[in-house]
Amino acid sequence: MQNIPTNFTPSPAKAELPLDLTGPHITASASAAHRLYQALCEMIVGGLVKPGEPLPPSRTLAKQTGFRRNAVVTAYERLIADGFARATVGSGTFVAARIPARSAEPKKTMAVVEAPRQGALSLGCTHIDERAVQRFRAIVGRRMRAFGAEHLHYGDPRGSRELRVAIADHLLSARGLRCDSDQIMLTSGTLHTLRIVLGTILKAKDQVWCEDPGYPIARRTIAQCGYRTVPIPVDPHGLHVAKGRAAAPSARAAYVTPSHQFPLGVQMSMPRRLELLDWAKQAGAFVFEDDYDSEFRYDGAPLMSLAGIDHLQRVIYMGTFAKTLFPGLRIGYCALPERLIADVTAARAALDRFPGTLMEGAVADMLNSGAFAANLKRVRKLYREARDALAQTLETASDGALSVPVPSQGLHLVARFDPSVAPAVAAEAKRAAGVEGWLLADTYARARPLPGFVLGFSGHAVPQLVASAGRLARESRAALRARGQSARRA
Ligand SMILES: Cc1ncc(COP(=O)(O)O)c(C=O)c1O
Repeated sequence: MQNIPTNFTPSPAKAELPLDLTGPHITASASAAHRLYQALCEMIVGGLVKPGEPLPPSRTLAKQTGFRRNAVVTAYERLIADGFARATVGSGTFVAARIPARSAEPKKTMAVVEAPRQGALSLGCTHIDERAVQRFRAIVGRRMRAFGAEHLHYGDPRGSRELRVAIADHLLSARGLRCDSDQIMLTSGTLHTLRIVLGTILKAKDQVWCEDPGYPIARRTIAQCGYRTVPIPVDPHGLHVAKGRAAAPSARAAYVTPSHQFPLGVQMSMPRRLELLDWAKQAGAFVFEDDYDSEFRYDGAPLMSLAGIDHLQRVIYMGTFAKTLFPGLRIGYCALPERLIADVTAARAALDRFPGTLMEGAVADMLNSGAFAANLKRVRKLYREARDALAQTLETASDGALSVPVPSQGLHLVARFDPSVAPAVAAEAKRAAGVEGWLLADTYARARPLPGFVLGFSGHAVPQLVASAGRLARESRAALRARGQSARRA
């Protein structure tokens, strides 16, 4: 028998309970018993009945509310189980003496979350060819219909073997990287890869070389993980290894974009690549190669990846489908040196799991069926046109105020003012033109920032690119004039 903890003089049950069965606390689609439970909770927590006060017999409440008696009994049982009420055999059900605190009330003021915008000239947008969308729909549909046992258990922490094999094939043909599918691990993207692998091989406060300027989001991720980022300048040959050695000779890792330096677009020269690999070998460090946009090469053959040159000894290769398919897919991957597989896989298993098995299968089908390659071929052509339209408009409309080297790879370009121009001019022009994209200065950590913009051209229609580039170029000239600076580059 349960005792009612009563310091209260029991009062007679209310003839009719003040129940609200329709308010926002009620889940309309829930069962009758659950809705009644929610209404009773709301009433008790809201103080409409007092601690210790008796609740009406189930038969009476059923009559009052029109619910079946079974539903009332179930609602009362749940109230008792959750501590809102107490029952005494022979006496009935009572409101508990102490009521559990009201669970998570909706907050009045929410934190403001700024999602990346998709506006004019923004980075990170992609286009997917309509034929590829149709293939993807058909493939996902087929995978759904063939739903099988592979989705009903936890698989390899690295992700499905089928997709890992398809990625290993792609890396060999597209990036000259020979690796076994066992070296491939699927993740939700490059930043996720960085977190998992850095977390396995580094200790708190270890130093990591980062390109300066560089990809600020990766820099932030590395710092958030508790490692010390060491900005290393970039010159026309890529990351300046000698300066890295001088600044932090015993760093444990380096994060680089050797095929297409972000944001400047330089390609790391072969001597620099070898110098970087030599340092890694001597220091016992690892190099994280972010190969984010190599599938979009417009002139000449793609260069072999750094990991390919290193034969995956000290380099961790990181790739993503965020650009080759679309960011919403959230599937990226890495190729690991053999010596790291066991530790990284163990760490992964304790951290999170592979991406959804259904989508892994669909992406494998896209790669294996040739739909992936066909889409790349078609969008590459579109991106090349978009790149040319953007570069040309910026050059002409700025009347020489901006210099715009046309990148031979990738989905963004850099437009620069003369180095003597104050970086604030770029900020003023960007604001006045109402475009997205980044200020070049925001990609610098320590080196003296160059004034200019980092602008995305993928996933934007050419007429819109031309219009927004024209606006940005005109506002750039106006901002220069307002500061009494010549609109022409020196
Ligand atoms: C330099 C660089 N690396 C990687 C990525 C892709 O990251 P993720 O795979 O996490 O979406 C981007 C996306 O814009 C990028 O600019």
